[in-house]
Amino acid sequence: MGQSLLTGPFPRIEGELHCGQVAAEELARRFGTPLYVYNLASIRGRVALFRSAFAEVDHLLAYSVKANGNLMLLHALGTMGCGADITSGGELFRAIRAGIPAERMVFAGVGKTEGEIGYALDERIMAFNVESRSELETIDAVAGERGTRAPFGVRVNPDVLADTPHAYTRTGHADTKFGVPWAEAPELYRWARERPHLDPIGIDVHIGSQIVEPEPYVRAIDRVLSLVSALKADGIELEYLDIGGGYGISYDDRPGMDLGALARDVVPRVRAAGLKLLLEPGRSLVGEAGVLLTRVQYVKHTPTKTFVIVDGGMSELIRPSHYGGYHSVDLVADPSGRDVATVDVVGPICETGDFLALDRSMPMPDAGDLLAVRTVGAYGFAMASNYNGRLRPAEVMVDGDLVSLARRRETFEDLIRGEEEPS
Ligand code: LLP
Repeated sequence: MGQSLLTGPFPRIEGELHCGQVAAEELARRFGTPLYVYNLASIRGRVALFRSAFAEVDHLLAYSVKANGNLMLLHALGTMGCGADITSGGELFRAIRAGIPAERMVFAGVGKTEGEIGYALDERIMAFNVESRSELETIDAVAGERGTRAPFGVRVNPDVLADTPHAYTRTGHADTKFGVPWAEAPELYRWARERPHLDPIGIDVHIGSQIVEPEPYVRAIDRVLSLVSALKADGIELEYLDIGGGYGISYDDRPGMDLGALARDVVPRVRAAGLKLLLEPGRSLVGEAGVLLTRVQYVKHTPTKTFVIVDGGMSELIRPSHYGGYHSVDLVADPSGRDVATVDVVGPICETGDFLALDRSMPMPDAGDLLAVRTVGAYGFAMASNYNGRLRPAEVMVDGDLVSLARRRETFEDLIRGEEEPS
C-alpha cells in the first residue's frame, strides 16, 4: 500500500521529513549529498508481512540481491531468516560475505559461466535455477569435474505476459531470453535424471517485475504445477516451487501488490502439491524503505521551463530515464507556505535524459533546499554508475535512532582504482 505520511518509513515530523525519528537534513549535513538512506525498521516490517502472509506453507524468502546488494542490508536480511536469489558470482560473493548461508541461495541467470558455476558448487548453494539445456550440460560437466552433484530447478518460461509498467521488466512471455521453453522442460528433467552429477529438486518461474495483481502469478503457477504432476507420474519428485519475485509496490497513489491476496491464491496450491515455496522478492522488501537525498544547486528559468538542478542524477538513480519510472520528489523542509510550481528536477550529467522528474507539480524549491526522492531502496544504488566521473554516493542505514554508515561515499582515488597510471 501507499506510504502514510505519518507512519511510513519517512514521516514528516513538525512538517520536516524524517527517516524514522532522524531528521533527513541532519543526515544530509553529516554524510553529504547525494545520499541514499534506508529505514531498517521498515524492511523488517516488510519481511514480517511476507512471513505472516505465507505462514501456512513451508517457505523461504530468497531476497533478490540485484535490487540492493549493500552488505549491511544483506546481513540484516540474513539475520531475519532470508536467503538470496543471486544472479552472478559477484552477488554470490556479496551474499556470502554478508553471512547469508549458501544453503538458502538460488542462482538464476541465462549466462552463468563455468567459473561462476564452480564457485556456487564449492559454496554448496541450495540450487541452480537453470535457464537452458546447454547451461544444464555445463553444470553437469562442472559438477562432474568436482565429483559432486548439482541440485537444480528448471526456470520454466510459462508464456505468461504480465502487465508491468515497462517492457524491459516483463520476463514470462515466450519471446524473452529467460527460462526454458514450456514444451522443452519435461524432456530436460528426463535427460537430467540419467546424469550422475545432476539432482533435479525444484522448478522456477519469474514472470516480471512491479506486478500488482495476483492473477498472472496464478496462471504461471497453475501451468507449472501441471508440469510438476506430470513429472511426478514419471518418477521425478520435486521439492520446491520457486515463484520468483516481482511483487509490485506503491510509487505513486496506486497501491502495490496485496500480499495477503497473493498468498490466498498461492498457498493452497503449493500446499496441495506438497512443495516448499520459494519467493524472490527484491523491490517489495526494500523499495519503499529507501530515499535519495539530493540538494538543489541551482534553479534555472527558461522561456518554457523551470529546471531544479540537483546534485544527484541518472548516475545515482537511472530508473526515471531508463524505464520512465515515477519517483515522488519531496521537499525535506516544511513545504507549507511555498508556492506550487511545475518543474523538471534534473541532475548535473551531460545528457538530456538526465532527470529525476519531469513536469512535476511541487512546492517550489530554492537553491540549497534538500529534496527526498522516494521509493528508491530497490534498483537505486544498485544501478548507480560512475558516468561523467561521478562518485557513487554514500549509503546510510537508520534503525530507530541508530544511524550507521553502510557504505562510504567514493573518492576520486576510487574512480581510477585498477587503472594503469601513465608515468
Ligand atoms: N527473481 C528474478 C529471477 C529476477 O530476475 C528478479 C528481478 C527478481 C527475482 C526480483 O524482482 P523484484 O521483486 O525486485 O521486482 N531494474 C528494474 C527491475 C529489474 C528486475 C530484474 N529482475 C527496475 O528498476 O524496475
